[in-house]
Amino acid sequence: MRVVILENAEQVSSRAADIFCDLIGETPDAVLGLATGGTPLGTYRELVTRYRGGKVRFADVTTFNLDEYVGLPPEHSQSYRTFMRTHLFDQADFSDRRCHLPDGTLGDYQRACEDYERQIDNAGGIDLQILGIGTDGHIAFNEPGSSLASRTRIKALTEQTRSDNARFFDSLDAVPRLAITMGVGTILDAEHVVLLATGSSKAAAVQSFIEGPVTAQVPASALQLHQRVTVLLDQAAASRLVRQDYYRYVESIQAEIEATHQTDRPSEV
Ligand code: PGA
Repeated sequence: MRVVILENAEQVSSRAADIFCDLIGETPDAVLGLATGGTPLGTYRELVTRYRGGKVRFADVTTFNLDEYVGLPPEHSQSYRTFMRTHLFDQADFSDRRCHLPDGTLGDYQRACEDYERQIDNAGGIDLQILGIGTDGHIAFNEPGSSLASRTRIKALTEQTRSDNARFFDSLDAVPRLAITMGVGTILDAEHVVLLATGSSKAAAVQSFIEGPVTAQVPASALQLHQRVTVLLDQAAASRLVRQDYYRYVESIQAEIEATHQTDRPSEV
């Protein structure tokens, strides 16, 4: 796991956008795993700015979002499809038919979940998955206790998650109780996972998933089992990490580490 501690949230967004743009520059038809929430917004803004500046195009990429609330139609103001259209898809040249989110309004959810997994497989798997982290250590809507081998399925949201997300709704009661989410196992299948965390409210979850044991009680800790994870943190989110000095040291000699690698794939530590 490569832990990169940056000055502030703007640098986190800019570094994440660099990772996207480098991939799309090499592989214009890359498959991107996308996330909603407050954390990736800066990254999406940066990608839109770079698109408008002619530095990147998205016409050939395929995208799969992590999750969607059950019961909200795609056009609902708080659906994740609306979020993605508002902040990214409609701001650039994404192809509507290649932008996938789970559908939270189908009756046959089991089938919808299996179809979602199949669509990811048929696209050749996810090349780059961006993630936030919940204050309870969740990734996507894999709440504490989620199987670390789980696939796309329905999950009940914790009260913590519902109250964290209530700021986007008129009231706590309006926040759905269920969501369709990629599983932890689905996320672990991505080629490269980039987790972003900013702000002191994430510091405890960040410390647990990086430096604590692998446990279903902290679903993000499953990333310790993945071969290629980059964690981009601002100072506040990194503030409880015990081994901060080591992570900073590794970054300071990153050029030297990369020079030892024969392939052009960035090294992981
Ligand atoms: P946030 O959510 O980016 O809005 O903090 C992250 C998450 O719940 O995964």
